[in-house]
Amino acid sequence: MFAVYAAEPSPDDPLAALRVGDRPAPDVPDGWVVVNVRAASLNMHDLWTLRGVGIKPEQFPMILGCDGAGVLDDGTEVVIHSVIASPDWTGDETLDPRRTLLTELHQGTFAAQVAVPARNVLPKPAGLSFAEAACMGTAWLTAYRMLFVKSGLRPGQTMLVQGASGGVSTALIELGRAAGMRVWVTGRTEEKRALAASLGAHATFDSGARLPERVEAVFETVGKATWAHSMRALKPGGIIVVSGSTSGPDPSADLQRLFFLQLRVVGSTMGTRDELADLLRFCDVSGLRPAIGAELPMESPETGFKHMLEGATAGKIVFSRGEAT
Ligand SMILES: NC(=O)c1ccc[n+]([C@@H]2O[C@H](COP(=O)([O-])OP(=O)(O)OC[C@H]3O[C@@H](n4cnc5c(N)ncnc54)[C@H](OP(=O)(O)O)[C@@H]3O)[C@@H](O)[C@H]2O)c1
Repeated sequence: MFAVYAAEPSPDDPLAALRVGDRPAPDVPDGWVVVNVRAASLNMHDLWTLRGVGIKPEQFPMILGCDGAGVLDDGTEVVIHSVIASPDWTGDETLDPRRTLLTELHQGTFAAQVAVPARNVLPKPAGLSFAEAACMGTAWLTAYRMLFVKSGLRPGQTMLVQGASGGVSTALIELGRAAGMRVWVTGRTEEKRALAASLGAHATFDSGARLPERVEAVFETVGKATWAHSMRALKPGGIIVVSGSTSGPDPSADLQRLFFLQLRVVGSTMGTRDELADLLRFCDVSGLRPAIGAELPMESPETGFKHMLEGATAGKIVFSRGEAT
């Protein structure tokens, strides 16, 4: 079947391992379903996979794509929850030590079909297009959990989002604005800051800029490049919620500031099936829709990967198939 896949780990030149071609149709164990993919979105995780990060060498070739939306054989339109827990796991799937994300052990969504456990598909709200629904399962779910499950932020409080134009960042901006937070955003260029403002940011700043006042919560996916600024940005008792470190880890955690100001640093990864259901309902009833910077045919994904590698994002990059959206 048609698929976009990583041929082998390629740490220094991830795009060199990208292939568009034929891969075997998925095996479908008992209790799993086949989703005929209509749209899937690109995440930084796909670039990590091409680099060989977070995946064992023997798992290659691996079909890319951590999230998606499509149609079951019976015609049901679905959104994929890509956290695959162990069969006997109950409770928060993100806490299962043996959980995997699609593309780490099981083949991903950049393909004609993908197989997932039956509990990993949720009904797609009719008001969301396949392209919009395809943004929900990874970047938007991660942002939803960071903001509503981990941060403890209340409407009216101030959140700082590090990075303006990425998938998780744009989701945080939109969700925070819709929930009544005061949303501040840093972005690396004027264009990216303008995008954040257009999505609802109340104020935008150059990366590392001095803020008018300290904030209750910082949302981090950038890591080393912004970490010191994030620590300085917090009010006493404030919280940093971290779900990524795109620019690398920062070994100097500024421990003195951490204990003296009684700051909290909290990790967050993906989200549960129930949180995805709540996110879908939130978008459905509020009319909130993901910012899609580029929608490309899945058959020609190279430009999308190149743009993400170069940091040239303006919201989510979506790959659609056929009559998809
Ligand atoms: N833990 C999880 O479950 C989870 C889930 C999703 C993502 N993640 C992680 O979160 C990160 C972002 O993922 P994504 O899919 O949203 O990626 P993306 O769409 O490519 O976004 C990258 C973001 O990082 C910012 N950025 C990158 N390098 C920077 C630097 N040197 N200085 C300042 N800002 C920088 C960009 O800011 P500008 O807009 O200013 O360019 C942009 O907002 C990745 O590391 C990914 O692995 C983790």
